[in-house]
Amino acid sequence: MKFMSVILLSLIISISALATQPSIYGENGVVVAHDLEACEAGIEILKKGGNAVDAAVAVSYALAVTHPQAGNLGGGGFMVIHMADGQKAAIDYREMAPGQAHRDMFLDDSGKVVPQLSIRGGLAVGVPGTVAGMQLALDKYGSMQRKHVMKPAIKLAKKGFTIPYDLAYSFGWLNKAAEGFDETRRIFCREGEIYMPGEIFKQPDLAKTLKLIQRKGNAGFYTGSVAEALISSSSKYGGKLKLKDLTNYTAHIRKPVIGNYRGLEVLSMPPPSSGGIALISMLNMMEPMNFDSVGWHSAQHIQMLAEVEKRAYADRSVWLGDPDYFTVPQEKLLSKEYATLRMVDYDSLIVTPSDSIYPLNDKDLAGIELAGHESEETTHFSVVDKWGNAVSVTTTLNWSFGSYVTVKGFGFLLNNEMDDFSSKPGEPNSFGLIGNKANAIEPKKRMLSSMTPTILAKDGKVVLIVGAPGGSTIITTVLQVINNMVDFEMPVQDAVNVPRFHHQWRPDVIHYGPGAISPDTAVLLKAMGYELTPRYGYGEVNAIARDQVFGGWVGAPDLKTASHGAAY
Ligand code: DON
Repeated sequence: MKFMSVILLSLIISISALATQPSIYGENGVVVAHDLEACEAGIEILKKGGNAVDAAVAVSYALAVTHPQAGNLGGGGFMVIHMADGQKAAIDYREMAPGQAHRDMFLDDSGKVVPQLSIRGGLAVGVPGTVAGMQLALDKYGSMQRKHVMKPAIKLAKKGFTIPYDLAYSFGWLNKAAEGFDETRRIFCREGEIYMPGEIFKQPDLAKTLKLIQRKGNAGFYTGSVAEALISSSSKYGGKLKLKDLTNYTAHIRKPVIGNYRGLEVLSMPPPSSGGIALISMLNMMEPMNFDSVGWHSAQHIQMLAEVEKRAYADRSVWLGDPDYFTVPQEKLLSKEYATLRMVDYDSLIVTPSDSIYPLNDKDLAGIELAGHESEETTHFSVVDKWGNAVSVTTTLNWSFGSYVTVKGFGFLLNNEMDDFSSKPGEPNSFGLIGNKANAIEPKKRMLSSMTPTILAKDGKVVLIVGAPGGSTIITTVLQVINNMVDFEMPVQDAVNVPRFHHQWRPDVIHYGPGAISPDTAVLLKAMGYELTPRYGYGEVNAIARDQVFGGWVGAPDLKTASHGAAY
């Protein structure tokens, strides 16, 4: 018997030698996140006996220090949790519109969208959710106290960390881009004397804020000196946030959306993210497809996924929004029957033009006007602990460095998440995404997101934790990692590394990353009728998978970007 397992193991090993070998492997816990310091913060907490949720809170606060482009106190995000005892939860700490927000706040007198208004400055800022979200996660699913899990972040802010190349680069362009945002340039760009890679970056103001939160919890952020400074910094740049907006903020525990793809349970984020529903609906449309005789990234493969993606994004444009304000036909969108119906006009040989794909082909739900519109930098991290508890988190300020407004004296940036609303029906936002009534601006409403923190399980046991940044491409990125692993049997590191493509219905174009579509495949796709547009910056996937060879966990940071992992 032992002899047989040795043979089997050597067989698996020789097959997997063909694939990218994982560099991160652990039996007790793995964290994969943008920065090494943030991964180490998570591992430190796990080693002290914390669970994956405790570690995730530590990683999130650490990223608020090391990754100011997206890690945050002044933004929001989503956390999907699969506890080893079977509990499943989705923590919604998405930003919310201020009480004074209204549908037409980003339109001029003639009803045209004023482009920069929802992107830079105070009006772009939604009420931040991260601090409340971390507290809720810790209270309900964590096992350690806030004062312990926040320690690594406070140390990083106080003592500093070595600036990596990508951060120095971002600070460099921020210096020019954030002209007029003095506090932002003072903190992150040393007022023009920009940081070099390898310098130590200390953030005493941020350390002070983190300590206040550590000591007082939500009250340390949503009331008192931090809250007052937040309001006055946003007002200085035209914002209408009030103290009441901050005290009104609550994070929610929601039921994750659950699907099934080829025997795997898919657990993901429900509205106000569109991610989980769109992901499961695309997987449902793909399930009847046979990928066995289809070459990876052949014209046929790309056609199959593009057609599925177009249909799901068409539905997203009309049927997804904050469920507390709009009735999302969730059950229908998640059903296999609906997926079958949605694909009746699919033909493996032809392109269905986006103009002939209408959102949700259902008379009962028709009659809603089409409206429509969603830059770059969000961050995803994945955590697993020795008990098998798994946490998948995507968090953001929306665009890199958010609204560019830094809270004076407290060292953290505010989001520009208001741009994720549909400023006007049918007009694309900064991600080219179309929105309608479901995602129109209303006071205290949460803007629709594409963030897709996801966990896959088999027979109740977690096998994959995955997610990505990338605006509208997030959902198709997660879809492709799953497609690569399940249908093309790629090991997780390969599934993450390989290039990606994306179709979002409008514009009617396939976007593709470097190397995703070969020149001769492009010829075939164009002959079918597709328009192709190259695109850089496909989200950084940070995944963890159950290892098939040794039984522990493999961390798979995206090697196309500067991402990291740690394990023990
Ligand atoms: O919630 C969303 O879908 C967007 N605010 C995410 C923004 C994003 O991913 C930017 N970049 N990588």
